[in-house]
Amino acid sequence: MTDYETLEQDARTRISAVSDLAGLEALRVEFLGKQGSVSLLLKTLGGMSPDERQEKGPKIQYLRQAVSDALADRKSGMEAAELEQRLAAETLDLTLPTPEAVKGSVHPVSQVMDELAEIFADLGFAVATGPEIEDDWHNFTALNMPESHPARAMHDTFYFPQQEGVSGDQEGAKQRRMLLRTHTSPVQVRTMLSQGAPVRIIAPGRVYRSDSDATHTPMFHQVEGLVIDRGIHLGHLKWTLETFLKAFFEREDIVLRLRPSYFPFTEPSVEVDVGFAIENGRRVLGGSGDEPGHGWMELLGSGMVNRRVIEMSGLDPNEWQGFAFGVGVDRLAMLKYGMDDLRAFFDGDVRWLRHYGFSAFDQPTLSAGVGARA
Ligand code: PHE
Repeated sequence: MTDYETLEQDARTRISAVSDLAGLEALRVEFLGKQGSVSLLLKTLGGMSPDERQEKGPKIQYLRQAVSDALADRKSGMEAAELEQRLAAETLDLTLPTPEAVKGSVHPVSQVMDELAEIFADLGFAVATGPEIEDDWHNFTALNMPESHPARAMHDTFYFPQQEGVSGDQEGAKQRRMLLRTHTSPVQVRTMLSQGAPVRIIAPGRVYRSDSDATHTPMFHQVEGLVIDRGIHLGHLKWTLETFLKAFFEREDIVLRLRPSYFPFTEPSVEVDVGFAIENGRRVLGGSGDEPGHGWMELLGSGMVNRRVIEMSGLDPNEWQGFAFGVGVDRLAMLKYGMDDLRAFFDGDVRWLRHYGFSAFDQPTLSAGVGARA
């Protein structure tokens, strides 16, 4: 065995015997550091004769490479072992409960609007929208409530300040007067004007009236329904409302009572009542209101669209007929989910929202039940 081979053997033995990174680093310095034994050997090459250098040079280079490789192998071996050890020690406990994340909830108004859209989509109705800042013409005039019509006074309208000097045309300025829409009915006019006939839409949205007590808030929600086609009659209205209310309240025994009424934009106009029973001091919808211990509750306004409205919406009333209805979304939510103070809907109290809100993962579908799981 040459001296070099002995040196190599010795280095390998010591490198494999070392047990930690600090010891390994000490060996690196001992062999390959500036004053290291292998480094010093390399330096002797300079003082050799060419023949000697040719003979010993490759052997010393080989020795340096062998020691350096052995150090590197040992180092990565130690690191791998350390990692193995850590992986074995640090197990992840997947059964630990995660901290509760703050979750929002779906407001009952949004929930009910989704339910309505789902029910009416099944009947072939699309969802239409219109502006909440509306003009006088769409909110009143086109709905057969000309200037000074007494029905306008029923709406407690929020008007915007009249703009001065916009035009010399007095009548035109009045029609363009802006207001917060008092009902969703202007969407009837807008939809007929923009898409013509036939029409089958619902229009859910916010409406505004200057009114405030336990059952009235200055802002509330309605959903409008409109069907325009050929040969539409009151029977279609009745069937549609019955089908809608049975699906919405998830009861087959919903009984409706249709009463003659008056709206300027429908003729004839029909007020729809729904029968209820008193159970444990609470009104529960279902059954005829004429039975003992039962009663009728006013639910929505509806009727056959007045031919003057159809005309002002750009259609020929001799060709196109239809029905419309409007109902309070908040009221539907209160009846279905048992809330009694409308003002709480809009207080933004997070405790109320947690209690009455719905999970965003609980999408209403007709197949799985349109109502939210409690
Ligand atoms: N717009 C009416 C209201 O707000 C409701 C309604 C809509 C009545 C459509 C008839 C037809 O009271």
